[in-house]
Amino acid sequence: MRIRVYVNLRSAASAVASQIAAALRRKPDLVLGLPTGRTPLPLYDELAARAARRGIDFSRATSFNLDEFWGLPSAHPASYRAFMERHLFSRVNLDRRRTHVLRGAARRPDAECARFERALRRAGGIDLLLLGLGVNGHIGFNEPGRSLVAGTHCAPLTPATRRATAALFGGRLDRVPRRALTMGMATILGARRIVLVATGRKKAATVRRMIEGPITPHLPASFLQLHPDVEVVLDRAAASGLMRRVPQRRGKRRLAG
Ligand code: GLP
Repeated sequence: MRIRVYVNLRSAASAVASQIAAALRRKPDLVLGLPTGRTPLPLYDELAARAARRGIDFSRATSFNLDEFWGLPSAHPASYRAFMERHLFSRVNLDRRRTHVLRGAARRPDAECARFERALRRAGGIDLLLLGLGVNGHIGFNEPGRSLVAGTHCAPLTPATRRATAALFGGRLDRVPRRALTMGMATILGARRIVLVATGRKKAATVRRMIEGPITPHLPASFLQLHPDVEVVLDRAAASGLMRRVPQRRGKRRLAG
């Protein structure tokens, strides 16, 4: 794993945006995997700012979102489709027909997950997958437990994750769905390149276990250690629990990894 530590959220967002822009220049029909949550918001703002000055071109790109709440129609304001619309899709020139978000209101979750996996295969797989990190170590909605599921599936949400997402539902825990559709661990590890972003002190212990701890389904993000091309982008607070450190360089601190 390559670890990059930035002095603040803005420089981290700008570095990841530059990577996406470079990847799009190399391969205009790039297939992106996209996360939701608070962490990617500065990145989506940065991408929107670059799109406004025509500094980035998504016109031939395709996107696949990691997950969606089960039972929410796409038009529901707390759905991840609505989130993506608000924070990214409406602000860049991605063709909506090539944006894929699991349909939370589909009648049969298994059929919806199979459809999503087929679309992903048809698109040639994910070139660059951006990930956030749950405080409990989840990625997508692959929650900690005794086992993990390989493919896209419908998963129960832990009470901690439901509490962490309650803000999207006006703070009403009773309104947070109990299940979600999510890419599975093999879907995630099948991406050619992964960039995980984690910020804030609340994530520091999880980041340490993800990078320095054993690979275990009790911390799903630890499986990223198995992937040959993962970059972990952190701010100083999220990196504060790591054992290995080297001096900061040009606003960016690099750690051996
Ligand atoms: C949600 C999403 C994850 C996201 C995580 C972290 O549970 N399903 O994909 O990475 O939350 O969210 P945040 O960035 O708000 O900490």
